[in-house]
Amino acid sequence: MAIDTQAQEQLLRHRRVWEQKPILRRIYNDEFFARLLSFRKPNGLSIEVGAGPGFFKQFALDILSTDLIWCPWLDAIADAQELPFRTASVTNVFGLDMLHHLATPMTFLGEVSRVLAPGGRLILVEPWITPFSYFIFRFLHQERCDLSETPWLSNQRGAIPEKMAFDGNQAIPYLLFGPSHRSNTLSSLPELNLLALEPFCLFAYLLSGGFKPMNLLPEFLYPAVSKFERATSPLWRRIAALRVLLALEKKNQTATPNFQIPNHKSVSG
Ligand SMILES: C[S@@+](CC[C@H](N)C(=O)[O-])C[C@H]1O[C@@H](n2cnc3c(N)ncnc32)[C@H](O)[C@@H]1O
Repeated sequence: MAIDTQAQEQLLRHRRVWEQKPILRRIYNDEFFARLLSFRKPNGLSIEVGAGPGFFKQFALDILSTDLIWCPWLDAIADAQELPFRTASVTNVFGLDMLHHLATPMTFLGEVSRVLAPGGRLILVEPWITPFSYFIFRFLHQERCDLSETPWLSNQRGAIPEKMAFDGNQAIPYLLFGPSHRSNTLSSLPELNLLALEPFCLFAYLLSGGFKPMNLLPEFLYPAVSKFERATSPLWRRIAALRVLLALEKKNQTATPNFQIPNHKSVSG
């Protein structure tokens, strides 16, 4: 594979912004990383795929961090679509903003299904399409947002097509797990149950400007904004959430069918 200089430049840029924006670190820690870890199964091997700039690794030191691109701060190089782990050897697979960058997301989900031990989990935070977020992703974001793709058909056999690591389509997680095609996706993954699908993320992230240089959220206001965001989330998450938490669990021998969602977690959107 050619050296992906665009990806390396992007990773270094993200690490610079991370150092300069304490508000961004706070939002990632409280909103993204804490959410990912709240679904973690104890014991065994936990890995992160598409770990890129290594921010989650800084927060959860014991997780083996991997990426397609070599980075000195990560533990290993690994293509998420051809995971270098034995069958049924991993307890948790974590991923943040990586599914929508893959050439064949269904190949990745199949690989996860293989490497997870029974009862093990795939826990992802990804962009999510709502009427409001579609506008943001489509017109104000540098990545593509194309709802015409059919990623649930992407289960590639043989050679995986080459693709620039940072070339993404933010609609992919919604196309796979949104209401229209969720059943197509899950029927191709008979060993995985969907445990949780929770749209979240709005005011604090938007005001912070994310990885853009601007920031409209002073740090002292963050606790109040975050509290307001959590309290009002049932009112806006279906129409405005920017991201989704997805948790899938590998079935044990005596499996429950897909769509049996525990009472405390919702599948909506
Ligand atoms: C938007 S970045 C997210 C990085 C990190 N998870 C974060 O949120 O800061 C997407 C990452 O996915 C990685 N990636 C793209 N294709 C991949 C693949 N086939 N296997 C593993 N990682 C991949 C990229 O190199 C990049 O680091």
